[in-house]
Amino acid sequence: MKAIVVAIDKNNGIGADNDLLWQRDLPADLAHFRKITTGGSIIMGRKTFESIGRPLPNRENIVVSRRPTGVPGVLTAASLTSAYELARYPIFVIGGGKVYADAIDDVDTLYVTEVQESFTQASVFFPVIKANVWKETSREHHEADDLNKYAFDFVVYERITD
Ligand SMILES: NC(=O)c1ccc[n+]([C@@H]2O[C@H](COP(=O)([O-])OP(=O)(O)OC[C@H]3O[C@@H](n4cnc5c(N)ncnc54)[C@H](OP(=O)(O)O)[C@@H]3O)[C@@H](O)[C@H]2O)c1
Repeated sequence: MKAIVVAIDKNNGIGADNDLLWQRDLPADLAHFRKITTGGSIIMGRKTFESIGRPLPNRENIVVSRRPTGVPGVLTAASLTSAYELARYPIFVIGGGKVYADAIDDVDTLYVTEVQESFTQASVFFPVIKANVWKETSREHHEADDLNKYAFDFVVYERITD
């Protein structure tokens, strides 16, 4: 099983200044991300790894980069293909922009958090989720609350196979 896990704003924005657009203002999404990815292999680009700053626990961490990270507890792969070969568990591609663009044709499932806000500072984007390629199979709406500054939907898309 190969999936992408991503959070996007209303314009498919995912990041700016090597950080998330909503920074730490959506803890429910971090919990959702942890729940989906725990026990799996997570594949990420070098910049996303630097942004997270440490290997994430209870997951096999694989960083794609032309150079080894040298960080204990992290595997490095020179290409996405070798990252897939190294992975031992269900595979979750977790960004960022460059890696999503390369991986979207390889995965069968997209776990997308749709943040109901536009962030004008966005400089990194997720590819368009094409309606002739992806079918929405689940959507769970959440209003903003005391802890989560923006409304958001947890959405699952599956690749159309017929
Ligand atoms: N909203 C979300 O869900 C989400 C999730 C993750 C990240 N983000 C955001 O996305 C932004 C980072 O994305 P980004 O596009 O700038 O960087 P990125 O995709 O995280 O990392 C790019 C780097 O990864 C390596 N790389 C990428 N594709 C590769 C491939 N096919 N083969 C080998 N190496 C490859 C290269 O590293 P080397 O230069 O070392 O060779 C490249 O410079 C940040 O703002 C971050 O916060 C958002």
